[in-house]
Parts: sequence; structure tokens; C-alpha cells
Amino acid sequence: MSGVTALAFAKVNLSLRVLGRRDDGYHELDTVFQTVGLADRLTVTAADVLSLEVSDPSVPSGPANLVWKAAEALRAATGFSGGAEIRLEKRIPSAGGLGGGSSDAAVTLVALARLWGLSLSSGALEDLAAALGSDVPFFLTGGTARGTGRGERIEPLPDAPPRGVLLVLPPFGASTPDVFRALGATGLTPGAPLLNLAAEDRNDLEPAAEALFPMLETMRRAVAATGALRARMSGSGSTLFGLYPDVAAAAAARVALSARDAGLPGGTRLVVTGTVGRPDYELQALGRSSGSSR
Ligand code: C5P
Repeated sequence: MSGVTALAFAKVNLSLRVLGRRDDGYHELDTVFQTVGLADRLTVTAADVLSLEVSDPSVPSGPANLVWKAAEALRAATGFSGGAEIRLEKRIPSAGGLGGGSSDAAVTLVALARLWGLSLSSGALEDLAAALGSDVPFFLTGGTARGTGRGERIEPLPDAPPRGVLLVLPPFGASTPDVFRALGATGLTPGAPLLNLAAEDRNDLEPAAEALFPMLETMRRAVAATGALRARMSGSGSTLFGLYPDVAAAAAARVALSARDAGLPGGTRLVVTGTVGRPDYELQALGRSSGSSR
């Protein structure tokens, strides 16, 4: 096989509970992930050595990029010594809580395994993904899924009903470690596991991020005022999202929020998209038709 192209979709957290702080510095989570249509595009081509070209100059194009780390991890795990020319077209903003780097890394593992003709068990792939970052394993599944542990233990859920999504991208990013640090002990929701995942509508990281960036609360209220079914921050932010019955309703909300007096700071970007269910995800991100095994 000489080349593989795949879409690396963004995610939002439909809901996110922080259950507690762990001894290893991470936090125990119970979250529902959902893939959405905003996507980076990854192309891998056979080559003797490893190289990476990224369309966005503000994103590292060398060993600091998770895509590069994914390629190295795959070679180390399998003993494969060949290379690849990797091209990444970025659409998903960094430090946005949308899992862009994590999605790129997961899709890289799958695309390179195919390009290089490696057969890994799904367990081995999940272990590689989890070592790259807490959000990476979710992107081996996509659609709607529950994440527990530090977010890396994934249980696929039936796809949530299709929704229109408005992504509200502030002109600043939020650092994940900073937001978790700002959470403190008072922001935790200890206790029983979720009983009704579909109805859960919270993000325990919101108050922490809003303490760091007070503008986020104003923005979240502005999104809620458009009549969104749900208006939340994604992950540790800074991206906010509104869920709507369909894409047309999300587009109408975009128009309303574009008004000068809508309460959003200058430089905010508004992206209309929709949820991406697992069959579409498997086809476009993982290169697998629905129902086929890994
Ligand atoms: O796993 P990942 O590298 O994406 O995590 C980045 C940072 O986010 C961690 O070093 C930690 O500070 C914070 N984090 C956390 N609890 C999680 C996930 C991430 O505290 N469940």
C-alpha cells in the first residue's frame, strides 16, 4: 500500500465528572465523549525515513508532535524500522479541549499500521494510545463513548441522536494541567457511577476554567441564550459548544452569536458542524467499514 488518507475528527465531552485526585497526579474521570465533524486531515505515504509536515506553523512538526510520538511508539512496539512521509492539515485548534492532537495520534497509529502492514491486537493498539495521552484511546472508537480512569478506559455507547453542533472557539486556549490545578478539592463530584449517562449534563472543569478565564462564563451564557439543548465547555476548554436539534438550528445560532452585542469577545471563531456517529467515524477516520473487525 503506497498511501493512506484519514480524517482526524474533534471530540466534545457531552458530560464530564471529576471524581477525585489520584496519587499519580491525574484525576479520576467519568465522561461521555462524542465525535464531531470538525477534522484534521492526515496523509501517510511510504518512505525510507520518518518526516512530518504540518500546515499550521504554530504546531510543532518534529518529535514534539503527538503524531511523531505515535509513529515512534508504533515502531518501538513492533520492531518495524521503515519510515513514512506524514502530512497533517490542521483544522482543530490546539489547547481547545477538542482533542485535536489526541485524535491525530490515534489516527496515525491506525493509518501507519495499515501502511506498514503491521497487525496489532486491539489491546496492543489501545495500550500504545493510552501511553500517548489520556484522550487518545477514545479516538480508536469514536461516536459516543464513556471514558473512565484518567479518561483512557473506553466503553463504546450506542450513538447519541444526531445533533447540530456550534463550536465557539475563544481567541485564547486553556492549558489542561492549569485547569485541573485550579479545580481544587471543592470542584470534585465524588460518589456513585453515573446512573443515567444520557441525561447527565455537566462539566466539573467549567468552574475551574471560568475562574481562570471569567470571559468563558459570559460566553457560555450567550450560547445557552440561543436556545441550545446543551451549552457546555468541552474538556478543559477553552472551546464551548452548543447542541441543537439539527445543523440548520446550529447555523441560526451562529448568526445570532455573530451580532456585535451577543457577548462574545472579538476574535472568537464560530464553527457549525454536527455529531459524527460511529459508522461514519469508522469509515472516515479508521478506514474500516462498519461491522468489520480491527
Ligand atoms: O494524559 P494527558 O497527557 O493528556 O494529560 C495532560 C495533563 O492533564 C496531565 O499531566 C494532568 O495534569 C492533567 N490530567 C489530569 N487528569 C486526567 C487527565 C489529564 O489531571 N484525567
